[in-house]
Amino acid sequence: MKNVLVIGSTGQIGSELTMKLRKMYPEGNVVAGYIKGAEPKGILLESGPSALADVCDGEQLLGIVKEYHIDTIYNLAALLSAVAEKKPQLAWHIQIDGLMNILEIARQEGCAVFTPSSIGSFGPETPHENTPQDTIQRPRSMYGCTKVATELLSDYYFHKYGVDTRSVRFPGLISNVTLPGGGTTDYAVEIYYAAVKGEEFACPIAAGTFMDMMYMPDALKAAVDIMNADPSRLKHRNSFNIASMSFDPEILAAKIKEHIPGFRMRYEVDPVRQAIADSWPDKMDDSCAREEWDWAPSFDLESMTVDMITALRKKLL
Ligand code: SER
Repeated sequence: MKNVLVIGSTGQIGSELTMKLRKMYPEGNVVAGYIKGAEPKGILLESGPSALADVCDGEQLLGIVKEYHIDTIYNLAALLSAVAEKKPQLAWHIQIDGLMNILEIARQEGCAVFTPSSIGSFGPETPHENTPQDTIQRPRSMYGCTKVATELLSDYYFHKYGVDTRSVRFPGLISNVTLPGGGTTDYAVEIYYAAVKGEEFACPIAAGTFMDMMYMPDALKAAVDIMNADPSRLKHRNSFNIASMSFDPEILAAKIKEHIPGFRMRYEVDPVRQAIADSWPDKMDDSCAREEWDWAPSFDLESMTVDMITALRKKLL
């Protein structure tokens, strides 16, 4: 039986992952960790326990782990790539000092830890096409620096102390529940909101810029499946490439137009996001995840687009 703490439970991934885990485990077993100013509301608040869980406060985290007998921590606290460029020291503090707090508690208390990595852990020298699982990782963004350090520290705690750390490199994540904040791939979410509202979309990423993307239900499945995988099959741990679709803004806009013919898009390229996007893979090779823990996505661009438009029409119109 798992007792789970989700740190960052009100964020883009956390808000949906917490609810998925609460459907899987007995009532009361999944604690929604949050920070001041991002308190859980509605169903997230009502469906189970919640606790102030600031990654930068190790004592607070230890108190929660002890009180709720936590054995699994999903650490989703992070500043996304464009915000991290504006606040690099804060990004390091949350993503690395915070991670060290979590890993130390995990070592003492015997918890498994999932801390996601990202396509942002790669850089301009990384092969962009079919990016291998094991390859050069020299990112130029602070977000990327924290993600490479996250992978290394997570593997370090596994090899040195036996802490059960596992993770995946998430592509840009697309969902209709909680908006991302300040990422490079956010355009692929915002474009659907604009299209459903009948607004013209100003795209901050240039035509021809391909990036891996994934629909949130597949991302949540990956986060759950990797933590439930048979450890004897895992040759890798931190972190696995996972992929489901790769497109540029032109392909995405054309797909949306098939469903919303009046949709219009213009380009207003943001140089900060564009430079980051140019340094990231076009398409990752996820064969290790497929071999080692049977990773397989369910959604492609067409099925995601249908689902996004249907959900956003209900939410927005
Ligand atoms: N979606 C993230 C970002 O754009 C990358 O993992 O910052």
